[in-house]
Amino acid sequence: MILSTDLRARLSSRLSADRRAEFLARLSRELPLLHERLSSLYGAAPGFEAWFAALLQSVAELHTARPAALCSLDIERSTMLDWFQSQDMLGYCAYVDRFAGDLNGVAARIPYLRELGVRYLHLLPFLRTRAGDNDGGFAVSSYDEVEPRLGSMSDLEALTGELRAAGISLCADLVLNHVADDHPWALAAAAGDAGFRRHFHTFADRDLPDRYEATLGQVFPLTAPGNFTEVPAAGGWVWTTFYPYQWDLNYTNPEVFAGMALALLRLANRGVEVFRLDSAPYLWKRVGTDCRNQPEAHWILQALRCLVQIAAPGVLLKAEAIVPTPELPPYFGEGDADGRECQLAYQSSLMAASWAALAEQHTGLLHEVIAGTPPLPPLTSWISYVRCHDDIGWNVLRPDVERSRSDPGRLERIAGFFGDEASGYASGSAFQAQGADAVHGTNGMAAALLGSEKVRTVADLHDAEARLVLLYGLALCIGGLPLIYMGDELAQGNDYSEGSRAARDADGRWLQRPPFDERRWAQRLDPDTTTGRVYARLRALIACRKTLPCLAANQPTQLLPVENPALLALRRGSSFLAVANFSGRPETLDLRALPGLTPTRWRDCFSQRPVPDEFPLDAWGQAWLQADSVPDAGAS
Ligand code: GLC
Repeated sequence: MILSTDLRARLSSRLSADRRAEFLARLSRELPLLHERLSSLYGAAPGFEAWFAALLQSVAELHTARPAALCSLDIERSTMLDWFQSQDMLGYCAYVDRFAGDLNGVAARIPYLRELGVRYLHLLPFLRTRAGDNDGGFAVSSYDEVEPRLGSMSDLEALTGELRAAGISLCADLVLNHVADDHPWALAAAAGDAGFRRHFHTFADRDLPDRYEATLGQVFPLTAPGNFTEVPAAGGWVWTTFYPYQWDLNYTNPEVFAGMALALLRLANRGVEVFRLDSAPYLWKRVGTDCRNQPEAHWILQALRCLVQIAAPGVLLKAEAIVPTPELPPYFGEGDADGRECQLAYQSSLMAASWAALAEQHTGLLHEVIAGTPPLPPLTSWISYVRCHDDIGWNVLRPDVERSRSDPGRLERIAGFFGDEASGYASGSAFQAQGADAVHGTNGMAAALLGSEKVRTVADLHDAEARLVLLYGLALCIGGLPLIYMGDELAQGNDYSEGSRAARDADGRWLQRPPFDERRWAQRLDPDTTTGRVYARLRALIACRKTLPCLAANQPTQLLPVENPALLALRRGSSFLAVANFSGRPETLDLRALPGLTPTRWRDCFSQRPVPDEFPLDAWGQAWLQADSVPDAGAS
């Protein structure tokens, strides 16, 4: 596909003279893939080429409207394409109201984020949501308005400007799969507008819904069973994968694609630098499948990426695809789109496996996940994390459990370890689990799941702290962009407050969505408190990480086989070794027995002191080591 003279002229008339040449150059690069993907999706529709040309014209107009500061950032990033892979990158994730009241409050916390070393801030949904239940903001009523209680669009622009000045990129959710039932498209559909009904999957009777249901999973089996909601005003049944008030968009309709793509670019022009593409696996439906990870869902994401590359090339896309390990790498693009889909994706299996390693005091599943994770295309990176606002979903580990030929009850036991009946140190709660093979998830803040609420002795306290630092230590060195979930850096516990009770009763995930704890924050520099000790240790890890280029996301990661299954030896690049003990007993690791490393003398990264070959690890302990001598060139 090459640009016709006519289209080139029409686009040129919409571009300012100073931006014309670079826009058209980027368009020429992206056009073949963009046109191929969109024509595969929509080419059969009458008027496809006219629709395509109109889309590009809108994109050109949005590029012309892009503020100069953001275009400068685009240009800067084009000379540093790997900026987000640096060992200097650290993410932080928070709800606006829980963290700081509103967007202006977030701006006031920038000094704190800088103290922590944050370079990327994911603010959970802050766009206008429906009144009443709204799934923590994931039911969006308007993509062009900020939720009024959190601020305004000009507050958002001011915040992104201040964050940029502080070297922090704002990540925002783009809820792609569904809109709220009071979004203008949904209201029009419910008012009988046939055109807008085609923005959704609506069915006059249960015939097709029942056929789909036969192979669909359920996201909220207990609180929102089924995937369809009866909405007579919309003509029968509406597809609602999540809550009944979240209507799935119909991406077979090109107007839906164009509407969401342009919404993304408008938000990018407000200064959003990273988009978390919420529920990305669900975008395409196909009878007889689980309607996740369909090839067309990837084509949609690839087409979005092309448009971003053309009009806002400094912006990144992050897939929120909480799916088993084998389904994850395609979100970075495959085949002719290798590396041309999302630059970032959550490594959810690794996150779940690190919790499993603690429960089992055995690192087997971590090994399985890493073994099942291929190297990524250049200029992409995992998001490594410990906790987030959702439950820890155990089902992503099913293929890894099957590959390891474990007994089928393994995931149930792991979930049970952290669930309501847990007899050990964890204070968590099962999420949406029903039936023997529905393990589903676990709710709870990391500190609570790791023992902070069941402390009886000083040793218990230190163990709970060590486990929290162990999981974050792993996320910080495993290879990716690490994300801290608000409050974990202060060892904040579960939210049992009366004020949040109703929300928790309706959706157990509110257990891990407490308001930012000002009291703990004030204690963060006090070494006589749990908060102070955890905060200091995390900051030390973060500071150390910044000095180690081998911890950049694009450096190789290798788990070395260790005889003792409670221990982990993780090699990064050629000169870094993290060792960790996932058991409650002190253990010794013989560094000389690790394969692939020539006789190497190791130094502790923090004290810089040489360490013994027979390396002692405390219960739940870890160490970061640096090689004094470079290993064999032949070692892999
Ligand atoms: C994502 C969000 C989750 C939300 C769901 C539906 O998975 O992380 O919180 O409930 O999407 O939007």
